[in-house]
Order: sequence, then C-alpha cells, then structure tokens
Amino acid sequence: MTRVVLDCDPGHDDAVAILLALEHPSIDLAAITTCAGNQTLARTTANALRVLALAGRTDVPVSAGRAEPLVRPLVVAADIHGETGLDGAELPAPLAAADGRDGVAVLASAGPETTIVATGPLTNVAAALQQGARPRRIVWMGGAIALGNVTPAAEFNAYVDPEAAAAVLAAGVEVTMVPLDLTHQLCATPAVQARIAAIGTPVADAVLGLLRFFETAYRAVFGLPHPPVHDPATIAWLIAPHLFGGDDRFVTVETTGEHTRGMTVVDVYGRLGQPPNAHVLTRVDADGFWDLVLAALARHAGAA
Ligand code: RIB
Ligand code: CA
Repeated sequence: MTRVVLDCDPGHDDAVAILLALEHPSIDLAAITTCAGNQTLARTTANALRVLALAGRTDVPVSAGRAEPLVRPLVVAADIHGETGLDGAELPAPLAAADGRDGVAVLASAGPETTIVATGPLTNVAAALQQGARPRRIVWMGGAIALGNVTPAAEFNAYVDPEAAAAVLAAGVEVTMVPLDLTHQLCATPAVQARIAAIGTPVADAVLGLLRFFETAYRAVFGLPHPPVHDPATIAWLIAPHLFGGDDRFVTVETTGEHTRGMTVVDVYGRLGQPPNAHVLTRVDADGFWDLVLAALARHAGAA
C-alpha cells in the first residue's frame, strides 16, 4: 500500500485521479488537500467533495489549502474547466464538508511514510516544505519539456505559481515530474470514451460527461481532437511504474521571463552542469494506462 496525500485543483482530470486513487487497492488515499488553480479554492474544494460524493465515500478528509499563489495573483482555467471547474456532469451534492484543517498543515505533517501527489499548482506543497514536510517523495503532474499549454513556454500548474514550483524542485525531496510531453500521450479518444460508456454506472456516466466537456474545451482552445487526461498519470505511475519510462534530469523554473514565466527548464543534455533533481517521465504504455483507469472506474459502484 502506498500512503498518499493528494493535493489537487479539481478540475476534470483531477477528478479521474481521485477516482483512480480511491479505487485501486495499492493506494491508501489518506487525505485530499485542495489548491487554487483550475478554479478558485472554494470551487476546487467543493468539487473535491462532490467527486467523493459521486464515489459514495465519506472516509477521506478534504482540507482546503491556500487561496492564492505564493506571490502572484491567481490565474484560473475557466476556458478549459468551466465556471464550476467541473462543468459537463451533474455531480451529487457533497456528503460531507471540508474538515476545517489547513491543507498546508496536513501536507506539512507528511513524513517518510507518505507520498505527496500534486496535480495542481505547487503553492500548498511549497508552503508545506517550508513548514517542515519531509515526505517520502513528491509526484507532480506539471511542467513541460517542450511546449507549454497556458503559454507557448509554460504548462498551467507551473505557470500559476512558478515560485512554488521552483522551490519544490530545489528542496532536495525526491520528485517525479509528469510533464505534458507524457500526458499528451493519454488522450480520451473515441475508443476510450466508448469503453467508459459501456460501463454504465453513475460514476462512469459522470466521468464520460466530464470528458466530453473537456474534449469540447480542448478542441476550442487548442484545436486538439481529444483531451489529454493529465492528472491520473501520477497515480497510475505509483500503481504500475512498469508502464512508464523516464530519465533523471536537472529541472528549474523560470520566474522572471517576460514571455517565459513558469517555463520548466528541463536540462535534457546536462548543459547546466547541475545534478539531477527530478525523475522526468516521458514514455508510457497508453493502453495499459487506460486499462488501469477503466478497471478502477468499473469497480466504482458509487452513489446511486
Ligand atoms: O496543464 C494541465 C494541468 O493543469 C492539469 O493538472 C490540469 O488539471 C490543470 O491543473
Ligand atoms: Ca489539476
């Protein structure tokens, strides 16, 4: 069992990551903390609670973290995730409220028994490390080796809080980075959507509705035919690392560039002479990934 605290900004793909973590027997989802990113903190927190309600779960505490990035104003992604942050499906009302603890304090209590999975901006994680968090490792969906998405240079999670991303990568904690270069190999194609539709449960039907909205947004904004489902790759790597491949690289984050703020600079050729500080995933067995996700969705009986 891998004990996980998941810091997320639900968000369509965060929702799939939560459902995978809830349902796979090798993951002990000890807590969810929420960050501002895809939407405001209030909305991402409400969304995390609604995804738990969809799964019929009241045993995973949700704690809200910071409402703003470390030093910059918040930028949200309503163009991709909608005004609620989870547009596209009628999710049930929460079965519980957030537990009132500070999400940063929850993350700060992470010790060597805990893996922090981060699928949003790293604001909470950076603050938790400043407060003494010493997790076993951090698995982060964020950054890009090549093209960004929110700008040509920067991936969204790194762009929203580049100072936090830079701090986490410089903290000396083991980091596995799951960049866009990997997650764009994991698109919800028509074949994947048909397999989800065939499950026929409330959970699967809700996920299908979310992915169809996500697809419409990716077509409109990026001209991509099908949406890359980024965040569950973090959980899938913990479950089945054999499905993935990567390399140890030195990674830093641009925090001052006029056009490159939030760019994750991945030193593929070792030109900067710095020791590696992240394991950067670039290869994945996409079929194996989707088999894992679909099996988990099919196991969710979920709320009626
Ligand atoms: O750039 C993709 C990442 O930003 C994903 O985690 C998505 O949910 C958003 O947070
Ligand atoms: Ca996310």
